Amino acid sequence: MKTAAPEPASQVDPESLRQGRQNAFLFAGAAGLAGLMFGLDTGVIAGALKFMGAELQASDRAQEWIVSSLMLGAAAGSLLAIPVSKHRGRRGAMFYAGLLFLIGTGLCALAPSIPVMIAGRIFLGIGVGFASFSAPLYIAEITEKSRRGKMISIYQLVITGGMLLALLSDSLLAYGGHWRWMLGILAVPTVLFILATTQVPYSPRWLAMQGRKHEAHSVLQKIRGSKQQATEELNRIEQNLKKTSGSGLALLKSSPGFRKTFTLGILLQMFQQLAGINILLYYAPHILEHLHFSAQAAVWCTTLLGLANMVATGFAILLIDRWGRRPLLLTSTIIATISLTLFGFLLYSHVGGTFGSVAVVTLLVIFTLGFATGEGPIPWTMCTEIQPLQGRGLAIACSTFANWITNWLISNVFLSVMSVIGDFGVFWTLAGFNAVFFLIGYFLVPETKGCSLEEIEQRVKANVPLREIGQPLSSASSSTQHTVPLGMQKG
Ligand code: BGC
Repeated sequence: MKTAAPEPASQVDPESLRQGRQNAFLFAGAAGLAGLMFGLDTGVIAGALKFMGAELQASDRAQEWIVSSLMLGAAAGSLLAIPVSKHRGRRGAMFYAGLLFLIGTGLCALAPSIPVMIAGRIFLGIGVGFASFSAPLYIAEITEKSRRGKMISIYQLVITGGMLLALLSDSLLAYGGHWRWMLGILAVPTVLFILATTQVPYSPRWLAMQGRKHEAHSVLQKIRGSKQQATEELNRIEQNLKKTSGSGLALLKSSPGFRKTFTLGILLQMFQQLAGINILLYYAPHILEHLHFSAQAAVWCTTLLGLANMVATGFAILLIDRWGRRPLLLTSTIIATISLTLFGFLLYSHVGGTFGSVAVVTLLVIFTLGFATGEGPIPWTMCTEIQPLQGRGLAIACSTFANWITNWLISNVFLSVMSVIGDFGVFWTLAGFNAVFFLIGYFLVPETKGCSLEEIEQRVKANVPLREIGQPLSSASSSTQHTVPLGMQKG
């Protein structure tokens, strides 16, 4: 698109740049509210289940369905999100997610019977699927490359904040057994989220894909604060689009590089779940009561895990664009593997007394801290960064689907597997999954820090080894035999 001639760099007003950055931050923050809904809706059930189960006379099996129907809905929602976010935009998909949350919240809070409750949880789940697909994608598409990791991680931070809020509100409302309030109160953040989605602009990449170039340029100018930067970025996006017309499936067939990033995305999301965080978050009270904690102590220890989860995610956000993705992920998998192995030993050797209790809580907190510094945020960040534009929707939807299905599977088999191989056996198995996650990180995960999405895309299409797709093009260590012409990189 030919817009006004770019202003010389010296004339770029620092105040406009600051304003642009602030706008991008605000829009990403608004989209990040999708994560709040994700955290609240997945976290709230733990505290409500016992009371609703009693009132609705739900058997254990029915309760399992009440819990897991959300995850199945989310898995379906993450696939449905592809056509919705393609035709209605990432912003449109987030708006529909809000409407689904509202319907689901209403059905759940007022449910007169188990089938209505399950229907409500499916609506919530589809909303979570829409949100968990479109919000990180939106954030990645409006953010400058130097801040992208941090901004996408805001999404993760808000998820953990939502979970912590849900745990706290459950604990308070539990005194009167007010389960309908626990669920119904979620209508407040839901309405805020819907309003927020009406205030953010469409993603410039999506607008460019629709041929709405002037709107794309004006959004870019708003979030970059400079006409010159907006023009340059739009040119890069357009060049990229020209090369990427066609479906994600077609790209999957034709591009071996995309097949690799597609598979890596799925692996990262599966192993994020196999790491075991949700077993802990959904079942911590059960595990702790099994270890002779009082019911009250178990609830507060679970809230402590929620707090550790949130604090460590904040820490990861500070470090993700400084240290990079790989060091965080690798450190995180090592901490998770060691802490779960030791936890398994604790269970195996029946260490009891005060020492045993303190050790149990300490190890679970350490595991949670470890997960949240890398295994939590990195898969979400990386899945939005490594996929080429033409296949991004398909790849993110499939990896998000893998995340939810694995979440559903692992949470559903946990209790039965524990009864077969013992509690220590389960935690050693989880430690094993975390060790495999380390190997995946070590051998396959690239460092994408500071690399633009277009640069990554060119290297994916040139089929460079996965580990190298994020190397800055200026890097002397780039493997030259694989690289695409450097002159093409900068639009
Ligand atoms: C995972 C969720 C998990 C949450 C905990 C997210 O990255 O996708 O399944 O509950 O982290 O913070």
